[in-house]
Amino acid sequence: MNRLDGKVALISGAARGIGAETARLMVEAGARVVIGDILEELGRETARAIGTDASAVFQRLDVTSEEDWNAAIGAATARWGGLDILVNNAGMFLGKGIEEASLEEWHRLCAVNLTGVFLGTKLAVPSLRERAKANPHGSAIVNLASVAGLVGSQLDPLYSMTKGGVTLFTKSAALEFARKGYRIRVNSIHPGVIQTDMGQQTFVSRARKIGTNDVDAARQIALSTHPIGRLGVPTDIAKGIVFLASDDAGFMTGAGLVVDGGLTAQ
Ligand SMILES: NC(=O)c1ccc[n+]([C@@H]2O[C@H](COP(=O)([O-])OP(=O)(O)OC[C@H]3O[C@@H](n4cnc5c(N)ncnc54)[C@H](O)[C@@H]3O)[C@@H](O)[C@H]2O)c1
Repeated sequence: MNRLDGKVALISGAARGIGAETARLMVEAGARVVIGDILEELGRETARAIGTDASAVFQRLDVTSEEDWNAAIGAATARWGGLDILVNNAGMFLGKGIEEASLEEWHRLCAVNLTGVFLGTKLAVPSLRERAKANPHGSAIVNLASVAGLVGSQLDPLYSMTKGGVTLFTKSAALEFARKGYRIRVNSIHPGVIQTDMGQQTFVSRARKIGTNDVDAARQIALSTHPIGRLGVPTDIAKGIVFLASDDAGFMTGAGLVVDGGLTAQ
């Protein structure tokens, strides 16, 4: 189950967190992985920790740059002959309300969380299409949305808006590619609160909003919204991404996999 033998994957924002764990599990499942990120030193370290040059390499990738995407896709093609899987994982958090956020912050948030997903998808299509010809289940794109892309957010409305965009972009891209006969499946994953750098940023932001600056208390509040009784860890999400990218999800496209400890079941 969930094997990725012979497949080549490009994961954005994979220097740490969910992306890094996804890279690790994909290599374990038999894939060769390009780790793209703006954090160059950490990205190289992550690639080294995951495997040898034959299975995991780092490539600088700012998802807002067309040039960087072309270089990253080019690296996968030059090294391993093409691309079977794209994971649009890079993202940023903005814990500000509508009235507090500046236009500059809004533009940056949209550039990373929305433009990054559009650019990656658009520029990876030729390579994904080509490799799909040789695979009965085609190629796969997995987009990192969020539970905040399924329902509105009292606390982080702008972040939520970008993730809502990713949710519907996923469905529309799936439909467009199916209509065109490209054989590229496109699905999204919707994590609850996951203990990563970004998870920590949400606790800090909430502690500030409560007015106490008590980050542990904010963490406890977040935990209490997860019926399963714990917060998520990167591997909870990475396993879902590997599944969606694998041929075991061969009949899934335009779908959203919710991995949130029951948060949105309430
Ligand atoms: N942690 C959570 O609670 C949570 C919940 C729901 C969804 N998500 C989503 O999961 C994804 C991964 O988040 P994470 O929790 O691992 O966060 P993280 O902050 O640990 O990792 C995000 C990675 O994206 C990279 N990145 C940021 N801007 C970039 C850019 N312009 N170009 C390339 N890389 C860039 C960062 O350097 C970092 O390595 C994000 O899209 C996030 O929105 C996270």
